[in-house]
Amino acid sequence: MRQKLIVGNWKMHGSRVQVRQLIQDIETGTTGLSDKVEIGVSPTFLHLGLASELCDSGRIKLAAQNLYSEPKGAFTGEVAAPMLAEYGVSYVLVGHSERREIFAESDQLVAAKFKAAQESGLIPILCLGESLTQREQGASEEVVVAQLDAVMSTAGIASLQFAVLAYEPIWAIGTGKTASPEQAQRIHQVLREHIAKSDAGIAKSLRIIYGGSVNAANAAELFSQADIDGGLVGGASLEAKEFVSICKSAD
Ligand code: 13P
Repeated sequence: MRQKLIVGNWKMHGSRVQVRQLIQDIETGTTGLSDKVEIGVSPTFLHLGLASELCDSGRIKLAAQNLYSEPKGAFTGEVAAPMLAEYGVSYVLVGHSERREIFAESDQLVAAKFKAAQESGLIPILCLGESLTQREQGASEEVVVAQLDAVMSTAGIASLQFAVLAYEPIWAIGTGKTASPEQAQRIHQVLREHIAKSDAGIAKSLRIIYGGSVNAANAAELFSQADIDGGLVGGASLEAKEFVSICKSAD
């Protein structure tokens, strides 16, 4: 049985006061949830130190939103995996569509970041997803499989033992337009079957979470799909009540 994982991606939001309040409210609201569900939050780099102090019980895991592919060096403005590990970070998003699109991250860079995360003991959450045009062209399955293969050709199939996949269709991010449970399930199943061709055991244990306008009203149905193992939640994770309700629907 795969443990569900719900991660709140706070993107470029929050002040110290808001981060403190949000974590306290999530901590309180999710007390008593069973170990069927694991909860994570992903604040900005700047708020990781504070978040790490507030999450010291370890019940709420910390996820970083990004990292650089090198462990140290002259890379002004970047943050390395060992630095994140020192702050108690467990997960790190890799290849989020906002990084791929706005910051022009290539498949090669995404693969290098994925490897760098694992080399420091962090679990990469590899984000995959098609654009609206690609969906309309019927290319969704092909696109996400190609994105996955681009990383697997560098990192190797065995690396998926220590990773999470997040299917995030770009057309569903921040648009209020969620993929239907059937649409999301279909892509998750395609990804799992693709991995199973190389390693059935890894395919069975790998968590594949869904992201894109997840909210308290649609979470339960999404999470009840056979291959959907939780959610990567953007906007709705900035409201403690809404996020707690999403976490509860995975329990
Ligand atoms: P929204 O939940 O705001 O659509 O964002 C999804 C996302 O990008 C999570 O990483």
